[in-house]
Amino acid sequence: MAKIVGGILTSHVPAIGGAIARGQQNDPYWKPFFDGFKPVHKWLAAQQPDVAVMFYNDHGLNFFLDKMPTFAVGAADLYRNADEGWGLPVMQAVGGAQALSWHIIEHLVGAEFDITTCQSMLVDHAVMVPIQLCWPGAQPWPVKIVPIVINTVQHPLPSPARCLALGRAVGEALASWQGAERIVVLGTGGLSHQLDGERAGFINADYDRFCLDQIGPNPDAIAKDSALDIVELAGTQGVEVINWIAARGAMGADVRELSRNYHIPISNTAAATMLFETGSSLRAAA
Ligand code: DHB
Ligand code: FE
Repeated sequence: MAKIVGGILTSHVPAIGGAIARGQQNDPYWKPFFDGFKPVHKWLAAQQPDVAVMFYNDHGLNFFLDKMPTFAVGAADLYRNADEGWGLPVMQAVGGAQALSWHIIEHLVGAEFDITTCQSMLVDHAVMVPIQLCWPGAQPWPVKIVPIVINTVQHPLPSPARCLALGRAVGEALASWQGAERIVVLGTGGLSHQLDGERAGFINADYDRFCLDQIGPNPDAIAKDSALDIVELAGTQGVEVINWIAARGAMGADVRELSRNYHIPISNTAAATMLFETGSSLRAAA
């Protein structure tokens, strides 16, 4: 049986990719953020996951405003990276856990989620920055991925409650997967930030702390707000927290927080990283 070993939630700011390319992890500006990954690295080295199921939003690379699925699931055996305009180095492609993708897709459609299935998909900084953060310098990448894309870009956005339900349905699919893989769930984006408009530069540390405190024990408390409420609270791009909500849903009911880091600012963003262990590891430890 496959095992969900845990979950990682992290910001995916493109400038982090630039800092990695320049080796600036220990510079005073960057160190407080990168240090948040030390417990993650230790935990990943012990857990050795084979697959990362990644909830994120595409930023105009694979989907543009002309065709914007609300939810899309990758079903490829390889995902190539490209630069959607940030000037980041193009990273080595990531393998796809294709059979698991189809199992998740079957389960989601069976559960009446009308997803878009993508047998070919480019992945942007929202996938590649977190992969570089989790497995720095690893070549080839030590995990295969199942990319799950949530529209955080073009309104109307899916409701946070629907994202949580999607994540929970993905968690059910993982629990019924007969493969032997060790699976880690990732959610990328957030926390509060707004890149454009009158509120450009907006950050809401109180709301971020609420999210950090509730995402583990009570994700429904975050998901009860509408997507527009979250735009108001967290900024137009801070609404990326719906990726965290979906990822949290996929981790299953029981989680234990192992580490948390929160740092303002990284670029325009309140940057955060959280690590959770999940159900079966928790029961083994009890
Ligand atoms: C920034 C943050 C993001 O989430 C993103 O997708 C692009 C840019 C930023 O803070 O610069
Ligand atoms: Fe983003």
